[in-house]
Amino acid sequence: MTDQLPPDSAIEAKPTSASRTTLSHIMTGNDTNLLGTVHGGVIMKLVDDAAGAVAGRHSGGPAVTASMDEMVFLEPVRVGDLVHVKAQVNWTGRSSMEVGVRVLAERWNESTPAQQVGSAYLVFAAVDAEGKPRAVPPVRPETERDRRRHQEAQIRRTHRLARRRAIMELRERRAAEGMQD
Ligand SMILES: CC(C)(COP(=O)(O)OP(=O)(O)OC[C@H]1O[C@@H](n2cnc3c(N)ncnc32)[C@H](O)[C@@H]1OP(=O)(O)O)[C@@H](O)C(=O)NCCC(=O)NCCS
Repeated sequence: MTDQLPPDSAIEAKPTSASRTTLSHIMTGNDTNLLGTVHGGVIMKLVDDAAGAVAGRHSGGPAVTASMDEMVFLEPVRVGDLVHVKAQVNWTGRSSMEVGVRVLAERWNESTPAQQVGSAYLVFAAVDAEGKPRAVPPVRPETERDRRRHQEAQIRRTHRLARRRAIMELRERRAAEGMQD
């Protein structure tokens, strides 16, 4: 994971709306955990699928999941619920994109509006045919909400880099002091 490099200014920016995507799926009996509600891993797969579709569309080619963080499950999802996974690019670096995802459920037996049941942030890296990072178009936030998400994503990015650097430094210090795991 590199320190921050400036976005490639030779690539034309793309608006957030150009790649925003919703993936919808009805939950079945195959998706349950021991409690009979939907397994968290099933939701995470849908989140990764939706975010991957957005990252591929924004970057115009293959993109791989580099990290997934702050996955939050707010409410259980049940068999028969119609789940909508809404994803958009919040922020772009040189070759990476932060994708924000909201998970909503329409209850199969209620006519109430879809309820938010989860959210997550994922970082995707755009890669070339050899799997090496390639430059992505900068994202152009269009609304105040997009701009807020862009600013918050920048904070998360700074914290990810700082956390990683701090852990690497700790490991190097421990190794230099001869400590073994
Ligand atoms: C993600 C991957 C391409 C990064 O490659 P790398 O050689 O470390 O390249 P870099 O250090 O230049 O990182 C590329 C970009 O990804 C970002 N990145 C890399 N690892 C990251 C992590 N763990 N979290 C957040 N961002 C990360 C870097 O900050 C960089 O962003 P930038 O270009 O916008 O500044 C590489 O680690 C990989 O292929 N991982 C496996 C991906 C995969 O298979 N995913 C599916 C999981 S089953």
